[in-house]
Amino acid sequence: MGKLRVGMLTSGGDCPGLNATIRGAAKAIYEAFGEDKVEIIGIHDGYHGLIHGVYKSMQPSDFSGILTQGGTILGTKRTPFKMMQIIEDDKVDKVKEMKETYKDLKLDCLFTLGGNGTHKTANMLSEEGLNVIGLPKTIDNDIFGTDVTFGFHSAVDIGTEVIDRIHTTANSHSRVMVIEIMGNKAGWLTLYSGLAGGADIILLPEIPYDINKVAQACQKRADAGRNFSILAVAEGCFDIEEAKLKKKERARLRAEQGLTTATSRIAKEIQTMTGLETRTVVPGHMLRGGSPSAYDRILATQFGAHAAQLLKNGKYGYTVAMVDGKITENPLGDVAMKTKFVPVDCKMVKTARDIGISFGD
Ligand code: F6P
Repeated sequence: MGKLRVGMLTSGGDCPGLNATIRGAAKAIYEAFGEDKVEIIGIHDGYHGLIHGVYKSMQPSDFSGILTQGGTILGTKRTPFKMMQIIEDDKVDKVKEMKETYKDLKLDCLFTLGGNGTHKTANMLSEEGLNVIGLPKTIDNDIFGTDVTFGFHSAVDIGTEVIDRIHTTANSHSRVMVIEIMGNKAGWLTLYSGLAGGADIILLPEIPYDINKVAQACQKRADAGRNFSILAVAEGCFDIEEAKLKKKERARLRAEQGLTTATSRIAKEIQTMTGLETRTVVPGHMLRGGSPSAYDRILATQFGAHAAQLLKNGKYGYTVAMVDGKITENPLGDVAMKTKFVPVDCKMVKTARDIGISFGD
């Protein structure tokens, strides 16, 4: 009998913990089937590599020494789901090519490590008949059906450190500091790092803000003798007027004003309305860089090992998840087209409000 052949790819934005997950999955696969009975094929740059047949046969040694390494040893690319079924100028039928690469490589299963976009394509490939097992990564923590994604807590740690460091300079200069935190359309990363870093005001996409209330919250602190204010602002947040608009219309208006980021708009308005000196900070991709936290190393290892169990049981068309603290799996079809947003009445938001943090609403 030939060897079991398992493909692995990482797709979408990178994050700390991808390599730890790859390692956890590979080690558990070797352990379950025997090193000499499995061949793991690393597909380069996500679905791009699957479409164009760019891959490498991996050796057990490739998975050693990568637990602490940031980024992904397989490389990654954004290949948007909405473009998958569209034939572009290069005339490549992406879905057909992915299926052919899978067939040419004689894969028994494909592990897809990624976020929401990755899961949509994984689900489509599963519906097309491929044996797919998903693993939920993203600093955004917005994958439906799982309490947490790997990469999130590392990014929370970095976001918290940014806010910590901004405190001292905000204090020295008596300034309002507006810190922009990634997270795409969801506010998880801003909420967690804002709370952990002791932000005074937290603005989330899930709670449209009123700029008057945001300015008042800064002014109230100044009036009470607090010489600085820290705002943790989600990159995807918008105000109550913008909330009434469609996404495209919002983007058009922002471009017209020349203020395309959340922080630039908010900082300008706070300074104009209060006269308080205001600065912006955009840590950007730093939030995705470097070594995974201890939490993420453990989560990644557990997720990877669980994916190997699914493989062993021939349970395809699922993605690994944590539900109520237990490692489990969800059908890809149940989670693929959904986004997990911060519930506006969740305990974390309530705790923040209880200690006087303003959400600008
Ligand atoms: O999905 C992860 C993420 O970091 C989002 O928080 C952010 O909006 C986006 O990726 C940035 O994408 P890129 O790395 O392509 O600029």
